[in-house]
Amino acid sequence: MSEKATTQNAALKYDLHDKPPVPQWIVLAIQHVFAMFGATILVPILVNAQAGEEVLTIPVTLVCAGIGTLIYIVCTKAGSPVFLGSSFAFIAPVAAAYTRGGKGGAFTGIMVVGIIYIIVALIVKLVGKRWIDRVLPPVVIGPMIMIIGLGLASSAVGQIGIASGTDINWKGVIVALATFVITALVMVLAKGFLKIIPFLIGIIGGYIVAVLLGLVDFTPVLEAGFFSVPHFQFPGVTYTPNLGVALTIAPIAIVTMAEHIGDHTALGAIIGKDLLHKPGLDRTLLGDGLATFVAGLLGGPANTTYGENTSVVGMTRVASVWVTGTAGIFAIILGFLGKFTALVQTIPNPVLGGVSLLLYGFIAVNGLKVLIQNQTNFNKNKNIIVASTMLVLGLGGAALTFGTGNVSLTFSGMSLAAIVGVVLNLFLPEEREPIIEEIGYEEEEDAQGGADDDGDSAEGGDEEVEIPFTAGDARDLPNVFEMNHPIITHKLRVLRDKKTGTKEFREVVEEVCVYMCYRALEDAELNEVEIETPITKMVTGELDENRYAFVPILRAGMGMLGGLTQVIPNAKIGHIGMYRDEKNGNKPVNYFFKVPSDIEHRTVILLDPMLATGGSAVDAIDMLKEKGVKSIKFLCVIAAPEGLKVVTEAHPDVPIYCGAIDDHLNEKAYIVPGLGDAGDRIYGTK
Ligand code: PRP
Ligand code: URA
Repeated sequence: MSEKATTQNAALKYDLHDKPPVPQWIVLAIQHVFAMFGATILVPILVNAQAGEEVLTIPVTLVCAGIGTLIYIVCTKAGSPVFLGSSFAFIAPVAAAYTRGGKGGAFTGIMVVGIIYIIVALIVKLVGKRWIDRVLPPVVIGPMIMIIGLGLASSAVGQIGIASGTDINWKGVIVALATFVITALVMVLAKGFLKIIPFLIGIIGGYIVAVLLGLVDFTPVLEAGFFSVPHFQFPGVTYTPNLGVALTIAPIAIVTMAEHIGDHTALGAIIGKDLLHKPGLDRTLLGDGLATFVAGLLGGPANTTYGENTSVVGMTRVASVWVTGTAGIFAIILGFLGKFTALVQTIPNPVLGGVSLLLYGFIAVNGLKVLIQNQTNFNKNKNIIVASTMLVLGLGGAALTFGTGNVSLTFSGMSLAAIVGVVLNLFLPEEREPIIEEIGYEEEEDAQGGADDDGDSAEGGDEEVEIPFTAGDARDLPNVFEMNHPIITHKLRVLRDKKTGTKEFREVVEEVCVYMCYRALEDAELNEVEIETPITKMVTGELDENRYAFVPILRAGMGMLGGLTQVIPNAKIGHIGMYRDEKNGNKPVNYFFKVPSDIEHRTVILLDPMLATGGSAVDAIDMLKEKGVKSIKFLCVIAAPEGLKVVTEAHPDVPIYCGAIDDHLNEKAYIVPGLGDAGDRIYGTK
């Protein structure tokens, strides 16, 4: 085990480049294969069921998952322990592309998706990734995922054999029911590894019931060889590429790319690394893109990162790329085991129906979760318009064709919904009306800025509201730095949760501030000093702690001080006392000012957990500048976009470091979603 793994991330058993001892290494790799297996084999089976013909084969799919994983490892320079598999997002579009344009439509489409990933990777490398949040906010991604799941609902019902108008085969229904119940019970009751593979267990259980009821024909297994070469497809050899139809699949890349970012963020949090920073989103996207392109080239489904395998890493605490790479090699070998893949192909339709009954709804509910977790504000008409238009186009069977014959381009269902969602979200103006909201917490606790009991806003109800300056706009401000780190997001979750008590709240504020202090002092100059280690002499850097002063804005800023003094214990400390006068438009009232006498020679780190309207920060910076301070940095835990605009306009020379930039201010100038009144939560005064 590497020293880094032990010291920096004690929770990991094996870090990225550690090799586990051989027997464990093999077992862990097999676990990865198991985790991906259920979902990966379902993709070709369900695509074929949708298309009514064999489009994808299980052997090619397994080989492509393995090759894709190895490609990803190379592209990320072995910097991320991800196993690639095929996303459910492609089931309906690939089947539809096949129906319209045969293998040429389906496989060229998959290659085009790979190329889109590669192009986006290049853009991310050149201009960064902030623009992605703008183009793909939760209000676009959530409905897209819902459309993917709900769009497949009728095919699940068909596989079970209970679609209206069909003669019911009761044996099939029993098998589907057994599969459904087993999968659901595993989801609810299982622990550990089993919980990660409910669909695989459901398929195995349902398959056994199907065998007992005589619904499985083993002839293909008996006829198959032990080894057989998968039926790869090659453009220009086994089919003619069809770009027109292919482009109809392309917009699905929007969803899988968002999934990609989410998976890497989650995995990064699990293994204690910012994967979007290192190896970097450009490299991880390139890995998925090349893997998908190669899969299309060989006649396999698109290859993308896989939630199940993220869970395996979380469960085993094994982040070793040696393990994921070996799992990739195992998947390739499985693809060549003829008897095994023939056995998988004997899974009868009702088993698949039983799994799909859960799976498709599960996908749709995940879309809903994206909206809920990101607190998408459906009091905003713009959001309602974006989501509802996408749902109707995606599920209503819409199709738009441009051109005719071989040179035609059709956007239908999901693809059309994705394009329309992105465009509406980017170009529909924000409404001007104030919004009456917000969450239950604020309604309960009026003093924290919510609505009155009767739901009316206490003030300013009919005032004209400016076109909002959004979080995205704030992130583009040159001197604003959002921490953007999964662990910070995780810690802020604790602070935001209204159930968190005073003690834990205080501790977590300090903890977050330690990290923020590191980030804010990235440009700190060090004096050269010579020291002697137990081994040798060396010249190294030392911070001149006397160059710094911390100035908390009372009260809440005091809660941050402990974190900063852990980093620079010898910094001097000043105090600025201020409160917002609710009766006077939340203007800050200054009641105390005391700073070190030599403050003008120090870099001042000004502390306040909440930057709301920005009034307090602007006034505090004014006061410090009046005292001759030339170098000021502002640290806050949560900032509102509106306040960031005000402070950066008033003091463009002051960099602002914040844990998170939230959505907006409510009518009482409280940050939404925010964490409530920071002072009250730190001191328990509410
Ligand atoms: C809060 C917070 C900031 C200020 C931010 O303090 O701690 O100081 O509001 O708001 P602004 O950006 O709109 O000026 P508050 O007035 O509640 O006083 P407290 O720290 O004593 O609770
Ligand atoms: N001050 C706080 O403590 N919380 C807010 O949301 C806004 C200002």
